[in-house]
Amino acid sequence: MNRRTILITIIVTTLALMGVVITQFFWVKNAIALRGEQFDQTVSIGLKRVVNQLTTLQNDTSIIRNFCAATSSDISLHSQFIHSIDPALLDSMFKTEFRNLQVDQEYYYGIFGETENAFLTGRFKGFEDKILTSDHILAISCIFQHDQYKIGILFPNQPKFVLRSMQLYIVLSAFFILVTIGSFWFVIHSLFKQKKLSEIKADFVNNMTHEFKTPISTISVASEMLMKETIYENPEKLLKYAHIIYDENARLKNQVEKVLQVAILDRGDYKFRIRELDVHEVLRGIIENFQMIISKTDGTVFSRLNAANHIIEADRSHFANVLHNLLDNADKYSQGVPEVTVSTWSNLAGIFISVEDKGIGMASEHLQHIFKKFHRIPTGNVHDVKGFGIGLFYVKTIVEAHGGNIKVNSDPGKGSKFTLFFPYKMPASNINSEN
Ligand SMILES: Nc1ncnc2c1ncn2[C@@H]1O[C@H](COP(=O)(O)OP(=O)(O)O)[C@@H](O)[C@H]1O
Ligand SMILES: [Mg+2]
Repeated sequence: MNRRTILITIIVTTLALMGVVITQFFWVKNAIALRGEQFDQTVSIGLKRVVNQLTTLQNDTSIIRNFCAATSSDISLHSQFIHSIDPALLDSMFKTEFRNLQVDQEYYYGIFGETENAFLTGRFKGFEDKILTSDHILAISCIFQHDQYKIGILFPNQPKFVLRSMQLYIVLSAFFILVTIGSFWFVIHSLFKQKKLSEIKADFVNNMTHEFKTPISTISVASEMLMKETIYENPEKLLKYAHIIYDENARLKNQVEKVLQVAILDRGDYKFRIRELDVHEVLRGIIENFQMIISKTDGTVFSRLNAANHIIEADRSHFANVLHNLLDNADKYSQGVPEVTVSTWSNLAGIFISVEDKGIGMASEHLQHIFKKFHRIPTGNVHDVKGFGIGLFYVKTIVEAHGGNIKVNSDPGKGSKFTLFFPYKMPASNINSEN
């Protein structure tokens, strides 16, 4: 899949997901409103039934008849009627009706005069204002002609209750939406990881081809020369070509070994020959060799071997490879004349070795990645240096296998400093040696 297709897929899926989220949101919102309306209707039915029951009382009580017949000015008659309603009876009416309607929520109610907003009877302590503004208010129906008296009921927990009855749907919707978003993110993340991996692989193959092609073609040219008969009359030239073939072959072997080493590191089945090793002695040899190499570009290597204690337990050839890799990088990533400093110092636990260059340096955002396998900083056209991106991976793996660590400081354009730490004694748990 190319970048464009991936991008379009992401946009389409994101839009679709947003659509699902919005639809779901409105659906839930609607469902809550419907549930609220349904509850309102039930309450309204209950309230009507109570009012009906109240009006049927008029058949029994002459006061009610009077009440219903009274004009609006007969305030005393009205309140006489209302006060004559037994609060316990009213209460039991509400209880029975709402029980029949299967409403088991807490409620407050009261009968009040509309003009003065004063409560005459009911269970309303502390909720008077709320009952007055409640959605459930009915005029006492027998006196429709003059509606001064009303009955109101309030369910203070109605919004909470409605929400609670929808809780399961809301939680499930949110859960499934989150799962979908999470899976989507995971798929995209894996896709990019795969893509990066395949790019890295393509890079690796390109680099490898390049690294192998040069010695192979050199060997091919040199051996062609050796096949010419005239060459045997000139032993000096013969020797020169033989040397070229030998050197290039060594280089090739070195490259193959590097690639193989990664496979071995990956499998984790490398074996160490752990011996006591004089770091300074090994370093001197390596530095001397390195000086010869960078002399070709007029480079210099400074050594400041200051460690008081420089004997450690390590695998000599891996230790040397680690230093070779760091010095090779210091040379490769120096523009112009390489200037490299190798320093050592020690503390109670072990020895520190730093390799510092004045090369191209690295931006801080790259530093955390350079130790990853196949990772190379994209340098564009500025600095076209070939490599496999496995050197630092190898260095880190080996140093850590010795119980040590590696740190890097770098400033783009100014240079880089890699600092290794090796403990004097390799931790017993790290020893995986063939002795
Ligand atoms: N001394 C250095 N100065 C600048 N960049 C460096 C240095 N050492 C390593 N790097 C960066 O880290 C990357 C990884 O290094 P390494 O694993 O040795 O792979 P390689 O040298 O084959 O590219 C390099 O591609 C380079 O971008
Ligand atoms: Mg390297």
